[in-house]
Amino acid sequence: MTKKRVFSGIQPTGTIHLGNYLGAVKNWVDSQERYENIFCVVNSHAITIKQDPKQLAQKTYELAAMLLACGIDTKKSSLFIQSQIDEHAALAWILDCNIPMGDMSRMTQFKDKSAKNPKNINVGLFNYPALMAADILLYQVDGVPVGEDQKQHLELTRDVAMRFNRDYGECFKIPEALIPKVGARVMGLDNPESKMSKSSSGANHAIFLLDTPEVIMTKFKKATTDSHNTIVFDTTRPGLYNLLSIYEIFTHKSRESIEEEFVGKGYGHLKTAIAEVVIESLRPIRETYKKLMNDQAYIKQILDEGAQKVRPIATSTYNKAKELVGLI
Ligand code: TRP
Repeated sequence: MTKKRVFSGIQPTGTIHLGNYLGAVKNWVDSQERYENIFCVVNSHAITIKQDPKQLAQKTYELAAMLLACGIDTKKSSLFIQSQIDEHAALAWILDCNIPMGDMSRMTQFKDKSAKNPKNINVGLFNYPALMAADILLYQVDGVPVGEDQKQHLELTRDVAMRFNRDYGECFKIPEALIPKVGARVMGLDNPESKMSKSSSGANHAIFLLDTPEVIMTKFKKATTDSHNTIVFDTTRPGLYNLLSIYEIFTHKSRESIEEEFVGKGYGHLKTAIAEVVIESLRPIRETYKKLMNDQAYIKQILDEGAQKVRPIATSTYNKAKELVGLI
């Protein structure tokens, strides 16, 4: 039986936090036996928002190193940088010419992002979903893991692919949305009502994978809880629920045994226990990351090999699309 081919994209903006890790990256790492994975650092998408060029290049390497440190294994999966394969931008152009203005204008993420960046509403930001569609369609994939915020973009991808196949002839595989397992939605430690995000300004909002043990301990100790005194999984107590869920994921213990473990204990005890588990779980990631970042030549080599591995698929799809539309 052949494995399903899956494409995942991640932007090299900001550092990875526990929410990204548990909500996405860890699932990718765990799916490496099940799927034929293609992981792509989508740096071309990142420039739809103004970036400092030197920093963008640095962040691209950092993210690649972080993905490797988290357990992406290039013997099993492919990992490459979007800008190293020219066919992404080239196919996006052909798709652009086949996406009705009305369809693109409905994308809610463009509306959100342009409201947040009123000084830089550029054409690339508007066209972003066409580049994303090209990322996916180039590799003839079966599925794409998408969170709530990317579902609309995947729908657009499917629509343009089906329309293209109908109008010009069979070219693209139609990708399915893979909805991630529930339960890995990590909330902000300072505000458990909102999803953990890199853009929150609160100093104790997010745990970053590169935080030192001391910082992780402090952030958990300051986490918002409530004034009850029982430690149970209760969704009406979002601060506590969030902490317990993080503990559950890292320890793989059952909810009953966790509740039992904390009978008669206070929040201070619980927070220390969670912080310790998180510190120990992240330690190997942090250490591997540091080693990798000391050898950027090695990271470059891994990324070159990744691009070489997937390039033939991209070239073959692009050449087909080009031929079908009559570009010589
Ligand atoms: N738009 C995605 C995000 O912001 C990133 C992305 C770009 C992507 N191209 C992709 C995700 C292709 C999946 C497949 O999260």
